[in-house]
Amino acid sequence: MSLIKKAIIPAAGLGTRFLPATKAMPKEMLPIVDRPTIEYIVDEAINSGIEDIIIVTGKGKRAIEDHFDKSFELEENLIKKEKFAMLEEIRKTAKIDIHYIRQKEPRGLGHAIWCARKFIGDEPFAVLLGDDIIRNDKPGLSQLMQEYDQTNSSVIGVKKVPDEETHRYGIIDPLEKFGKLYQVRSFVEKPEQGTAPSNLAIIGRYILTPEIFNFLDAQKIGAGGEIQLTDAIQELNRIQRVFALEIEGNRYDVGEKLGFIETTLEIALERDDLREPLISYLDQLHEKNSNRSENR
Ligand code: G1P
Repeated sequence: MSLIKKAIIPAAGLGTRFLPATKAMPKEMLPIVDRPTIEYIVDEAINSGIEDIIIVTGKGKRAIEDHFDKSFELEENLIKKEKFAMLEEIRKTAKIDIHYIRQKEPRGLGHAIWCARKFIGDEPFAVLLGDDIIRNDKPGLSQLMQEYDQTNSSVIGVKKVPDEETHRYGIIDPLEKFGKLYQVRSFVEKPEQGTAPSNLAIIGRYILTPEIFNFLDAQKIGAGGEIQLTDAIQELNRIQRVFALEIEGNRYDVGEKLGFIETTLEIALERDDLREPLISYLDQLHEKNSNRSENR
């Protein structure tokens, strides 16, 4: 059993990349096939052994709370219609004990994490960001938890990204490498193009010691005019060792439109009820598009 029991899932962002879909609906509720994206994140936390989850929400995010709540009317309706498999699915989601706190102003990821400080108290904890879905037999977060249990140090999940994408991420400057684990010299949030110290990007999974709150307390403004978690990690790294671990598994960026569509297709192709018809549809589409480009 890991020492890490609590996780924070920040979900207060405005979701501007998906407007107008996210004008009245939280981006975390956009469905990948038939499940909201946030459910994939909550599942990863639970499958990693997390016992308590706090979701940091904001204005217009009530649908998230309703989703993980019990719905008597819906359950009654499914029982009447004898849709027992779906009933089981719905009940599973409501069984998880999730806590909520509101971030009252959109002041950045660092600030969202800071909002959950009283829930975390004085113990190490996990953070999972909703824009990254990681799929692997051994969940991404549990790989970090295992490293924490061995090193007693903060561990940040990273993956290699192409050079032209480094400006979109927090990037590490690695000091020493032990297999897939790195000791880190420094962390930089969204470096300008061509200035990144490596192409190892932070991919939205963190194990942090509670001392991080000492630095988040300062509420220093960083990249994009926001309070950045990466900046606080950089400060933490000056007083404690912070490691980075290359996470194994496929990572999907569902915070971007193309990534969202790719993820939807990949997950749909794994489903018995959708695989065959979807493949034949994709074949037709491919043919139609090749003819179109030949006729140009
Ligand atoms: C956040 C973090 C960044 C990290 C990224 C991963 O940025 O600040 O360090 O690399 O998530 O998805 P955001 O994508 O919220 O701008």
